[in-house]
Amino acid sequence: MSATVPTAFQLYFGAGRPQHAAAQSEESEDLFFHSIELRNGTRKTTRHHRLDDLNALVQDLLPPHRPLEIMDVAVSSGISSAEWLVSLERAGIECHMLAGDAVVDAFLISLGRGLRALADKTGHLMQLDIAGEAVRLPPPRRRDRIRYMPFILLMKAAARLFGAQTRARSQSGNRPWRRLGITCQPLTLMSPSLRRLPQLRAVEDDILVNTSYAQRFHVVRAANILNRAYFDVVTLERMLLNLRARLLPGGMLIVCRTNESGVNHATVFALGDDGRFRASARLNEGSEIADLVLQLPPTSHRDAAPHSGQTSSDYRK
Ligand SMILES: C[S@@+](CC[C@H](N)C(=O)[O-])C[C@H]1O[C@@H](n2cnc3c(N)ncnc32)[C@H](O)[C@@H]1O
Repeated sequence: MSATVPTAFQLYFGAGRPQHAAAQSEESEDLFFHSIELRNGTRKTTRHHRLDDLNALVQDLLPPHRPLEIMDVAVSSGISSAEWLVSLERAGIECHMLAGDAVVDAFLISLGRGLRALADKTGHLMQLDIAGEAVRLPPPRRRDRIRYMPFILLMKAAARLFGAQTRARSQSGNRPWRRLGITCQPLTLMSPSLRRLPQLRAVEDDILVNTSYAQRFHVVRAANILNRAYFDVVTLERMLLNLRARLLPGGMLIVCRTNESGVNHATVFALGDDGRFRASARLNEGSEIADLVLQLPPTSHRDAAPHSGQTSSDYRK
């Protein structure tokens, strides 16, 4: 029997979570993240063991520094980062890994036990939970958009009640808040299995606007985010400039896209002294944006990916 999409409440707070077969809980977790759509129109789609062949390819190409400083961006549930970290540790490669995603801090807003919504800190709703049944947002079918509209409007209003507190989440830890009979429970929108891997740090990081990691990493990986289907060329170039600025001299950038059949097409780039990338390895057909990476202008003051007031929420798939 195939798994149904779990609600955020079931996934994070245990109720109804399948206790049997680990494979089934992996499947339901993957279904959950696939069902989540961000404000900028990208999805949190990921899958266990999605990048195993990429991990194997990269292992022999890594820069010699130890501990190796690695950042995996746009990681969704973080499961691919966790699997990569475990494989590096098994190979005896000493490293620190930071996993970033545009939305990590999320909130479960509950109106009693029968109606819940998963929201980001801007109040964007990512899932409705009606009596334990997950409703994808926006609902794909027109008739469901009409049917669920009253619940969506109600939960948007409820999310607005907590607006200021959700934006200041970092000061509040994991305590739930209550107001007018509505509860707002903070949660980290990553795989619950990551709790077993405390050495993997997760951060909220929008790669279009966050310039706070200048020259911090030997390796940066961007898998299933720098896709032409998600962003226009100007946006992709700004993201690339930002990721390049995060690399230490001689660093490595890995760009991958998994196609609909699950095949990974990736290119590994090495950063030269002149600030230009060179392709050093390829998996299958290579990255679909290899030309953009190779044509980036040499390093200059523009590399901090200046923020023009636009956020990645302005871009859609
Ligand atoms: C398709 S998933 C890829 C997950 C994982 N890297 C993989 O390959 O399985 C895309 C992820 O990018 C994140 N994302 C979208 N826009 C982003 C941005 N501007 N900065 C960082 N992450 C972003 C989404 O939240 C989502 O988790």
